[in-house]
Amino acid sequence: MVVLVTGSSGQLGQSLQFIAPNYPQIDFVFCDSKTLDITSLENCETIFSNYKPDFCINAAAYTAVDKAENEPEKAFATNVTGAKNLAEVSKKFDTILLHISTDFVFDGNKKTPYLEQDLPNPTGVYGQTKLDGEKAIQQVLEKHFIIRTSWVYSQFGNNFMKTMLRLASEKDTISVVNDQIGSPTNAVDLAEIVIKLVTEHSKLSRSFGTEHFYGIYNFSNEGQCSWYDFAKKIFEINNISINLLPIPTSSFPTPAKRPSFSVLDKTKIKKVFGIEINNWDNSIEIHKDN
Ligand SMILES: NC(=O)c1ccc[n+]([C@@H]2O[C@H](COP(=O)([O-])OP(=O)(O)OC[C@H]3O[C@@H](n4cnc5c(N)ncnc54)[C@H](OP(=O)(O)O)[C@@H]3O)[C@@H](O)[C@H]2O)c1
Repeated sequence: MVVLVTGSSGQLGQSLQFIAPNYPQIDFVFCDSKTLDITSLENCETIFSNYKPDFCINAAAYTAVDKAENEPEKAFATNVTGAKNLAEVSKKFDTILLHISTDFVFDGNKKTPYLEQDLPNPTGVYGQTKLDGEKAIQQVLEKHFIIRTSWVYSQFGNNFMKTMLRLASEKDTISVVNDQIGSPTNAVDLAEIVIKLVTEHSKLSRSFGTEHFYGIYNFSNEGQCSWYDFAKKIFEINNISINLLPIPTSSFPTPAKRPSFSVLDKTKIKKVFGIEINNWDNSIEIHKDN
């Protein structure tokens, strides 16, 4: 089985590379942005034609949430045109596309965890382009999975945990917002579920029927917290003593508005794939050294 991974130098891409040795039955083809620029249909066609992948995991994205407000064309190119290109070549080469999307497709006005079928209403350019990317895939390709996830962190790439650890080495006091609620997702846990979709695909598509099987799934670690709670846990497990102050979002203005509540309901993915999901505060300890 050939599995092509785009955006292989990002957090999810590196997490997939980290777990790949556990799956010797899979021939992974890891492509970074230089080898495969998903905004180029021609580039996508060449790579697909060379490797004829059974699955394509799209870990490539424009993820600079605030920067996107000032360069919407760049965000659109990767998150919409790129997603559409991959859907088109996947259709041509009979490849199943696993695409990653985000909690930022929602406005955060709900008070209970978001279901896959809840109405999206992004509040910024990044969320809008991710939503448009989902739609572009849905329009072109039946055989797709879209996994919406949230607050991704890992030892790889740039993320909130790394930022907190860096700030702690530079400052005595750090202020973190405590009125945005979500669920951290360890990128290695996300990588494992993505590979589970790949390895269990044929068995499960027979039991569920493809009509009810493909489509959108939510995935994050279990539980919920604020960014402040998340920061507190990061410092606790790293034995860092620091003056951590909870602040409201209004005291930390950012170019892009974030959803104040973006917890995702994981009932569907747990039921279809028969999985249990680690609680976020458990997962951060489990993956502390990888
Ligand atoms: N990070 C989060 O908190 C979060 C939350 C919810 C959902 N997600 C979603 O999860 C997925 C993985 O995110 P991540 O955190 O792993 O992202 P990331 O660390 O920012 O990695 C994204 C990767 O995509 C590559 N890329 C950008 N433009 C590309 C292009 N045109 N062609 C090919 N590759 C390109 C980047 O390569 P270069 O560095 O070389 O440009 C980078 O390696 C994304 O779909 C993201 O939207 C992330």
